[in-house]
Amino acid sequence: MPGIFITFEGIDGSGKSTLISLLSRMLDDRGTDHLVTREPGGTTLGRKLRAVLLNPQAAGLADMVELLLYEADRAQHIREIIRPALERDRIVLCDRFSDATIAYQGFGRGLPMDRVRAIDSQVRDGLLPDLTVLLDLPVEAGLNRTRNRNLGKKNARESRMDDEAASFHEKVRRGYLEIAASEPGRFLVLNGLRQPEELARAVMDELEARFKDAL
Ligand code: TMP
Repeated sequence: MPGIFITFEGIDGSGKSTLISLLSRMLDDRGTDHLVTREPGGTTLGRKLRAVLLNPQAAGLADMVELLLYEADRAQHIREIIRPALERDRIVLCDRFSDATIAYQGFGRGLPMDRVRAIDSQVRDGLLPDLTVLLDLPVEAGLNRTRNRNLGKKNARESRMDDEAASFHEKVRRGYLEIAASEPGRFLVLNGLRQPEELARAVMDELEARFKDAL
């Protein structure tokens, strides 16, 4: 597959969105064509699925339904947005991808890992990120950030996932670190407590080292 597929992962409140905006600006400044997208919610269908998945009122959603909706979002996103962009040799910066499903639905919810991986692998159909940036930080620090972010909003409980107990996010964090340790070549693990500008510089250095000719 041509193009470069870069994904960003971390627990809620890890600072992915800020980092992606900074990187996008840095790429713009050097005139490097790229696309910023996210899961769930990168397509028209995905935005509807995101509203269902993150609705705090949808508390009774079965874990298996949650898994299938995240995967439905991904299937559409890959077909409609990610593959076409990569085929046109573009750089794709994607806020969350398959590792989020392994971390949240596999490690967090405790769904059988072999089934989660099997369904996700069907949906990805061979597509894997060229690089995954994992922002790691203590769960309490992440949850504080999401609470502060939600404070100013009309609906203070922004996301059903944010409502989960700290122990859930702890499992997700450990899950991410385990995935990263099992594929060190694909992952760049950074301390999410570092300043956003510093993090963006570190990712840009990594991009320059790995994909020099494409930037
Ligand atoms: P976001 O706020 O970073 O866009 O993520 C939305 C929420 O969805 C976040 O709590 C993580 C969760 N999520 C999963 O549980 N599984 C997935 O596969 C994805 C993509 C996100």
